[in-house]
Amino acid sequence: MPTTLKRLALIAYLIIATAASSPEDRQQFILKQPSTSTIPPCATPTTSSQELKQLLMLAPSEVDREAILLPNPPNACNITFQFVNTTHVPPTGGEIVLAGVDNFPALIGTQVSAAIGFVDACGLNVPHSHPRANEFLTVVQGQLIGGLVLESVPALTGRVNDSVPNPTVPEPVVMANLTQYTGMLFPQGEVHFQFNPTCEPAVFAAAFDNEDAGRVQIANTFFSIRDDDVLSAALGYPESLDARQIGRLRGHIPDSFAELMESCAKRCHIPSS
Ligand SMILES: *[C@@H]1O[C@H](CO)[C@@H](O)[C@H](O)[C@H]1NC(C)=O
Ligand SMILES: *[C@@H]1O[C@H](CO)[C@@H](O)[C@H](O)[C@H]1NC(C)=O
Ligand SMILES: *[C@@H]1O[C@H](CO)[C@@H](O)[C@H](O)[C@H]1NC(C)=O
Ligand SMILES: *[C@@H]1O[C@H](CO)[C@@H](O)[C@H](O)[C@H]1NC(C)=O
Repeated sequence: MPTTLKRLALIAYLIIATAASSPEDRQQFILKQPSTSTIPPCATPTTSSQELKQLLMLAPSEVDREAILLPNPPNACNITFQFVNTTHVPPTGGEIVLAGVDNFPALIGTQVSAAIGFVDACGLNVPHSHPRANEFLTVVQGQLIGGLVLESVPALTGRVNDSVPNPTVPEPVVMANLTQYTGMLFPQGEVHFQFNPTCEPAVFAAAFDNEDAGRVQIANTFFSIRDDDVLSAALGYPESLDARQIGRLRGHIPDSFAELMESCAKRCHIPSS
């Protein structure tokens, strides 16, 4: 009875095949994956040794990188970064937590970095630039005003006679009201700032297209020049600031966040420190 045997074989095959692909079987397969209870907690923040950085810089392929960074599956701690949960109370202006090559070696070779900024009520992230990165900043909580100083028009920079003061050519500044989940682009190297005009804290997330974006503070950098003659000449000597005024300014320039913008602080009833 070959025909009957064939039929029996076919039925047996169908039963086995159906059983193998039954929902229970697929469920068992999924359960063989690491369960969330085996995911190890990560220390915060990720530690970064010089040795690890050097190993990563010498890794020619992604397979090599992963052998260095992820030697203990399912442990992924070396590619996670905890942006510290900091809470601030005005008159503190805020704080920026940056994940870059210095404190997060996994970024080496990736050409990206990121920051979370906590900007308190009336706080100002002072005018600065990132010499090596475009920045795409998105407000994730509260509201910020983003400001960008446009680049000098080449015709204006090539003045024929630089010893003649030319005080009437400020660069244009563009500004945007960044409500929650609104992003703004700050091109590489260009001077920009953000401030919180509200009485509530704001938080932003910023992405950079360089693992070592860098940050140049405009006022801080300029007044770091210790030769007062250089400063007063650059500021338009003799009609501008004298040495005493420059000295006073130096002592008051904030590092990254100005504590408060005065009119906002008054409106929000925030006492100045
Ligand atoms: C992180 O990378 C280092 C260097 O390869 C390795 O020794 C360490 O075990 C890794 N940490 C984790 C949690 O996998
Ligand atoms: C941040 O820390 C503060 C104070 O410890 C806490 O009240 C708050 O819930 C934390 N926020 C998050 C998002 O973890
Ligand atoms: C620049 O302007 C000053 C002041 O008007 C003048 O004395 C000087 O000759 C000018 N220099 C040039 C190169 O034109
Ligand atoms: C920004 O937009 C929000 C929502 O439309 C509005 O309430 C707020 O007044 C605006 N802020 C400024 C400074 O224009």
